[in-house]
Amino acid sequence: MEEFKDLRIVDNFYQTSSFFPMPTVVIGTQCEDGSTSFGPYSLVFPYYVAGKDYYAMLLCSRNSSNTSQNLLVHPRCSLSFIPDNHKYFKECVRLGFPGDTPEEKMKSCLFTPADGLMSREHPGEVFPKVVKEAFQVFECTWMRELDHAMDDKPGQLDGYEPPYHDFNGITSKFGAHFILRVDKILMKERQYDAIINGVKPGGFPRVPVDYGFRDNMNFWLSRFRRPIAFPLPRRTLDIHAVRYAADRADDTVKFTDEACARLMKVPRIFLSTALKGCVDWAKANGVTMITEEHMQIINDKRSKEKR
Ligand SMILES: Cc1cc2nc3c(=O)[nH]c(=O)nc-3n(C[C@H](O)[C@H](O)[C@H](O)COP(=O)(O)O)c2cc1C
Repeated sequence: MEEFKDLRIVDNFYQTSSFFPMPTVVIGTQCEDGSTSFGPYSLVFPYYVAGKDYYAMLLCSRNSSNTSQNLLVHPRCSLSFIPDNHKYFKECVRLGFPGDTPEEKMKSCLFTPADGLMSREHPGEVFPKVVKEAFQVFECTWMRELDHAMDDKPGQLDGYEPPYHDFNGITSKFGAHFILRVDKILMKERQYDAIINGVKPGGFPRVPVDYGFRDNMNFWLSRFRRPIAFPLPRRTLDIHAVRYAADRADDTVKFTDEACARLMKVPRIFLSTALKGCVDWAKANGVTMITEEHMQIINDKRSKEKR
């Protein structure tokens, strides 16, 4: 292992002891007077991605920031993803200077605040504005019941005393974590088309890669480069392996050879889940022998659900 050196791990290791690629996100939260405050964040990542009752993001934030303090009172926020543009990033760095009040930051803010979809769907309720220049926005709600974080109170700007939560709310003297349920995803038309009609290199948003605050002087990022597609390995299961699993999937529902052949491209690890999905559909529709035509209906239903 002579190729690698042993690097000391220190606070903020993601930007002090490593090169960790991150997105640039402007978070909108609601201030006491109902106005929106924008703060830039990079430690915002998908948290619940499937198999839960909702989808969620995780934000790691200084607990004295305007964003954290606002979230402790009003749990709604908007995550606006900023495209690659020099002047937008310069504005993020300005908004990221710790200690400025929302009024100071927002009076000369370059970003255009706009209503999101939540305010349109829930007239009469207040939601933080979104950044009009973003290529996508997640409108979210902080899930304060998780880890019993609902009793965390704002107001302690010089550090919170223990006890701390493990993963949601105030998690250390100066730190906070927020699990944010994704209520809406807003997408600009070009990217919307790419997702619905098939993505091509030109359909990707121009996303910068942020490397955070380094060398005690600067924020670093790299410009967008066109993505390249790498085809997945083309592996197919042996038809006998599919038949073996299909015969054991259920006592009453069976599969024709042609229906089994439609499952040969499913990775082995997902085969029993795929078969179970087909059996559930068959039972719901009074089918006892699944044919190729049924498989087509099941596939069409799945692609419709994905949309
Ligand atoms: C591009 C960028 C990304 C940042 N990411 C984070 C982050 O993930 N977590 C954090 O606590 N601070 C982060 N900061 C620093 C915050 O922006 C800073 O604490 C700021 O005061 C927060 O604004 P607010 O007080 O209005 O919420 C980042 C700053 C910049 C410029």
